[in-house]
Amino acid sequence: MKETLIIEGERPLHGNVRVSGAKNAALVIMAAAIMADGETILDNVPQICDVDVMMQIINDLGVDCHWNDDGSLSICPPDKEILTKTPYHLAKKVRASNLFLGSLLGRQGEAVISMPGGCDIGSRPMDLHLKGVQALGAEIDIEHGFIYARAKKTSGNRVYLDFPSVGATENIMMMAAKTPGLTVIENSAKEPEIVDLANFINSMGGKIRGAGTDIIKIEGVSQLKPGRYAIIPDRIEAGTYMVAAAISGGEIMVENIIPTHLHPITAKLQETGAMVQEKDNGLLVTAGDRILPADIKTLPYPGFPTDMQSQMMALLCLADGTSVIVENVFENRFQIVDELKRMGARIKVEGHSAVVEGRDHLYGARVKATDLRAGAALVLAGLAARGQTIIDDAGLIFRGYEDITNKLTSLGAKVEER
Ligand code: UD1
Repeated sequence: MKETLIIEGERPLHGNVRVSGAKNAALVIMAAAIMADGETILDNVPQICDVDVMMQIINDLGVDCHWNDDGSLSICPPDKEILTKTPYHLAKKVRASNLFLGSLLGRQGEAVISMPGGCDIGSRPMDLHLKGVQALGAEIDIEHGFIYARAKKTSGNRVYLDFPSVGATENIMMMAAKTPGLTVIENSAKEPEIVDLANFINSMGGKIRGAGTDIIKIEGVSQLKPGRYAIIPDRIEAGTYMVAAAISGGEIMVENIIPTHLHPITAKLQETGAMVQEKDNGLLVTAGDRILPADIKTLPYPGFPTDMQSQMMALLCLADGTSVIVENVFENRFQIVDELKRMGARIKVEGHSAVVEGRDHLYGARVKATDLRAGAALVLAGLAARGQTIIDDAGLIFRGYEDITNKLTSLGAKVEER
């Protein structure tokens, strides 16, 4: 795989871009599909590296998973028992591998999960996941980097989450979907990807109510039947192209989106002076005459998403004034600051806050993607910067953005993979 992106900056982007299926919905729904009694066909799954790794894990467990000619993805669990251990060499590549905890417990009452890897954006513990599955009857041992979970006798229960963790909510939902009795998750995450998971499980005959609110009720069923389901569009990919319009001084029609999922991003982008208009086929984003400063606090949905924080930081580096960004979800999300500074940005970090003093121009430089979203932010900075930007470790960007080079090129960017 190519690992470097080279961008020639100062070219306003114009045109239409079609947003792919949501990475974070696809990954969890793939994990959930192993609970079905037969083949699941998923539409709108993005062809990105994280999906490839999830496919390999699913195949390694003994479940056939393959792409079909029409671009859909099939997951075909067999009639017999499957393996229950996620291999370390794959799990370390993608954090979402921890989502097999809930689905394997739901399917077979046993899961051996390699403590997951993924983006280096914070310590990312699993205490809330474990608390949840334990409340439903799982016994947990942690040895040699693996979580051993066994559930002989399970029943629904009430689980209160100290923090509305996306992954913990998903793992508990999946196990509870096949656990007898009623499970109530309080202070659950409300992200659109949680709603998509609930809709998917319900489409298989599951009984989940309240997804999208902070109380989710799940009545366990004994069987989940096979079916076909389309993944929602990726709100973070959409948000990234919206910022691309604003930062490059262009105009982009962002298609195949669900506007309500984008409200927190749209509102902030408008504060920075960009124009966002809802049209029949998506959102039309037009850059303002100048970029205005804006303060941002990341929060669980419907607050401003931590996965869009770095991209907004790139934009605010070019604002007429000073902005303050407070990161409340992941502690390591400011690693991008040193890379942006190499491009001339003026940013000071103190604890969870970054003070971004806007300036007229950024300059192209050799930088490296420190995580997926930081990588996307460097692409955005590169689009606006004077001269050439070379982004190393760009493989991290391909983990989450389908076909990014071609999409940007079709909008008029000069981008090359090497
Ligand atoms: C998911 C998304 C990720 C996004 C994040 C927050 C996927 C595959 N990834 O990650 O892109 O940035 O939601 O929207 O869907 N925490 C605990 N204990 C736990 C679990 C989490 O303390 O048991 C803390 C984490 O350290 C972090 C916060 O909760 O500070 C949020 O994490 P969480 O919502 O669980 O994020 P992920 O599911 O890992």
